[in-house]
Amino acid sequence: MGQKKLIKFAAIKEYENVLEYPQGMPGKWNAFFQELAKGTNNISLDDLAISQKAINTTPSAAEITKPLVLELACGRGEYAVGLARMYANQNFVGLDLKGNRIWKGASIANRDGLKHVAFVRTQIDQVTQYFSKDEVSEIWITFPDPQLRLSKAKKRLTHPKFLRLYQQFLQPGGIVHLKTDSPNLYLFTKTVIELFGLTLITSTDDLYSTAFMQSDKWDDRYAIKTYYEGLNIASSNRIHYIQFKLDKELPVELDEKLKELITAFEVTETHESLARNGKQAME
Ligand SMILES: C[S@@+](CC[C@H](N)C(=O)[O-])C[C@H]1O[C@@H](n2cnc3c(N)ncnc32)[C@H](O)[C@@H]1O
Repeated sequence: MGQKKLIKFAAIKEYENVLEYPQGMPGKWNAFFQELAKGTNNISLDDLAISQKAINTTPSAAEITKPLVLELACGRGEYAVGLARMYANQNFVGLDLKGNRIWKGASIANRDGLKHVAFVRTQIDQVTQYFSKDEVSEIWITFPDPQLRLSKAKKRLTHPKFLRLYQQFLQPGGIVHLKTDSPNLYLFTKTVIELFGLTLITSTDDLYSTAFMQSDKWDDRYAIKTYYEGLNIASSNRIHYIQFKLDKELPVELDEKLKELITAFEVTETHESLARNGKQAME
């Protein structure tokens, strides 16, 4: 492993705003961010209070639970940090496996005194271990690997398999945002939304088109740019964006139907793209 990576891995071990595979965090994020804001060193996760929903009482300042926004596959955490700059009254968590990428966002948050953003280093498959029921108010999924091979479709972060995980901690009717340069992942996600009857709020296959930017659908949060956004790996030259609500049951029985739909769709895509390139589609 390179020297630079080792330095970054050592640095995040000392950062209060990075938690690597933390144990016992569900329900404790509000208390964690209160300690982070106080500048507490070596925050003891075991001692953090679990948030309780106040019933028929006016909560004191210490009890007020701020909305918690989660960025999945955050990489350097541009959304977690960018949104934290825009919203002082919400807390933000970026989650990624790669410590050297998290280091970037965590270092910027430390440098700029942003005490309401933190990072978790872990596998997304394990995400339910870190949040309690209804603890998260919104999820951003930013330029995840589109997992283009059909055999990898279950690894797409908007596959119902993952949406069922998010439902375990997202507030009822909570919103999911997907930003991607992959037309395939965009169409796949729209297919999932339609098949499971989820509420689609906004979708565009050209986020930065003048028409969309000048429409009443535009929101300044969309302008936050990520590292992978700049790479244009899918060569689509367009940023695709979907906002939807996870507001329905996701019956496992429909997964087979989804498989059939996307199999047909991926074949069509291949034929169309071959046709666009002036080549004969293979039967
Ligand atoms: C294409 S990058 C996008 C990073 C960032 N959101 C951006 O737009 O620049 C995808 C990110 O997903 C992370 N990732 C992939 N699989 C993961 C998993 N199973 N658990 C956690 N993170 C994962 C990678 O480490 C990588 O940082």
